[in-house]
Amino acid sequence: MFITLEGIEGSGKSTQLPAIAAHLEQLGHTCLSTKEPGGTQVGEQIRAILLDPGNTDLDAMAELLLYQADRAQHANRVIRPALAAGKTVICDRFVDSTVVYQGAARGISADLITEINRMVLGDLKPDITFLLDLSPELGLSRAWRQIESGSRMRGESRFEQERQKFHEKVRQGYLALAEKEPERIRIIDAHGPQDEVGAAIKGKLEQLLK
Ligand code: TMP
Repeated sequence: MFITLEGIEGSGKSTQLPAIAAHLEQLGHTCLSTKEPGGTQVGEQIRAILLDPGNTDLDAMAELLLYQADRAQHANRVIRPALAAGKTVICDRFVDSTVVYQGAARGISADLITEINRMVLGDLKPDITFLLDLSPELGLSRAWRQIESGSRMRGESRFEQERQKFHEKVRQGYLALAEKEPERIRIIDAHGPQDEVGAAIKGKLEQLLK
């Protein structure tokens, strides 16, 4: 089974992921937790370029292709082998991030992104995606609090530097995707405290596993 978590900055994906993995392990699944960008050694190097706030002049097409390079390495070296070995893969961000950040927010054509995704992934697709939905005001204030307190690296804040309008487009892009694929993409209200969000995810997960 292949599960992905999606959402704007500060939506709490990285906090929820270990709890989901622990819950599934208890139910007898062997889990592999991973993330994009940066789920491989090469990917960590690509991530550093992509999230460096000093790279203010990164071209949108160069950005798109760097995310896809990271994904090709990750899908072929980590995700496919783990799924083939019968593991449950839980990934912090995947292809929907590209559709909304590079597509809906940066304005690259959806057809082009779909075509590149097909080249990179073939038929690899998440079975379930949890979309942690919250307002950009709250998400960004949480993300900046993490940066100020040192729990998130300032050297990875290129997207937090984007204006609120950009993050609103990302949020709307996600909600539009969820409307198109309601079976795969389950919306979780992420405005509340972490334990409430975690309980909502577990509830949906158990329904889906039945
Ligand atoms: P995160 O790992 O802390 O969520 O940061 C990753 C950043 O990269 C986040 O701002 C979203 C962005 N991103 C894209 O723009 N496109 C993508 O395809 C992916 C995977 C992430």
